[in-house]
Amino acid sequence: MADLEARAKRVLSPVLGHYTWLPVARGEGSWLVTDTGRRVLDLTSGIAVTPIGHAHPKVVAAIREQAEKLSHICAGVALYEPNVALAEALVKVAPSGLDTVFFGNSGAEAIEGSIKLARQVTRRSAVIVFRGGFHGRSTGAMAVTTSKAGYRRGYGSLLPDVYMAPFPYPLACPIQPEHDAEACAQHGLAELDVLLEHQVPAEHVAAILIEPVLGEGGYIAPPASFLFALRELATRIGALLIFDEVQTGFGRTGAWFAAQKFGVTPDIMALAKALGGGLPLGAVVSPRELQEKWLTGTHGSTFGGNPVSCASGLATLEVIRDEDLVTRAERLGELMLRDLAPLRSHPRVREVRRTGAMVAVEFTDPKASKAVLKTALDADVLLITCGFHDQVVRFIPPLNISESDLRLGTRVVVEAVLGKPVATPA
Ligand SMILES: Cc1ncc(COP(=O)(O)O)c(C=O)c1O
Repeated sequence: MADLEARAKRVLSPVLGHYTWLPVARGEGSWLVTDTGRRVLDLTSGIAVTPIGHAHPKVVAAIREQAEKLSHICAGVALYEPNVALAEALVKVAPSGLDTVFFGNSGAEAIEGSIKLARQVTRRSAVIVFRGGFHGRSTGAMAVTTSKAGYRRGYGSLLPDVYMAPFPYPLACPIQPEHDAEACAQHGLAELDVLLEHQVPAEHVAAILIEPVLGEGGYIAPPASFLFALRELATRIGALLIFDEVQTGFGRTGAWFAAQKFGVTPDIMALAKALGGGLPLGAVVSPRELQEKWLTGTHGSTFGGNPVSCASGLATLEVIRDEDLVTRAERLGELMLRDLAPLRSHPRVREVRRTGAMVAVEFTDPKASKAVLKTALDADVLLITCGFHDQVVRFIPPLNISESDLRLGTRVVVEAVLGKPVATPA
């Protein structure tokens, strides 16, 4: 095991970018344990996939029990309980009216399915997206992704008929001097009008697709007024509003879904990551009326809604619900912001911000953020970046992390930035 990195570099494709080469042997709650027994605090949750930590006993039991009974038959070949039970549990916590589920395997697939549904039902093809959005790596999902141009390098033409409008992000807005998010949102909406006037006729638009809080783009929330305006626009022009809640879903924002946090209900919600509680699972969720118009047989998946993934997802959802971790996400976010407050006045920090338990520290340049990641990992705290230039450090703690572990993590980051030890405030 000692040369795992060397072995990986011999047989695994270098196309996959690596934040770290940490050789993990197992996970225990909020902690990872390496093959030499080193314990590392995981503030990534595997990029927002394990909301109740690693190897939660209820999830392990559900996976084991299901694997012993049935690990695969294909949802299109036969019916099985976990598939239906997870869909039932999911629509109970989803925004009202979103009552029907199509299961796939991943976020990219959920996006592909959402776009296919919108295109087929509206009989239109244009998709409007927002600058900085990340929706996945498959060809269609990449075509609607605009967080980094580099993701498209060398791939030629992608899905046609995709149009990009600005996302309200005052720190990266071409309009200067600096202004607040509301002004930025108004500017974005005006640009959207320009798009509809000059580039794509409103009656061509099948979908308006947005991450209600930018994830990979930098952990940036728009003002609620922006999402309200998109809702109103989509309804007015007969397009469908799609929320990509792959990263924001399942309590991360302090509500089950960001849609509920902002009080804006989309027509379609794309889900993945935490949905499977650590196993691969994705979903397209929308009102039944819409999915009844999706022609049977024109979409599908061999593995989608796999019995073991659904059992794992259901156990995870039940723990989030029963332990009220959605409410706790808000408290964790407050705590992190309070402990990170000393960074606000640092010359290399542009902003410390949060939506629920999605917390971000934006630095002036990626050298600073990457140096913090390295220093934190040396101190046994695992974090990852986001942002257009990886200039943002994001915190994605498990929602059941202990306060003391969380505060250990934030203290390590504060010390990494300030370059000196700090006392944790009471
Ligand atoms: C908001 C969002 N959408 C879609 C995706 C793609 O998900 P997957 O990697 O499961 O295909 C991601 C992945 O990070 C994401 O954050």
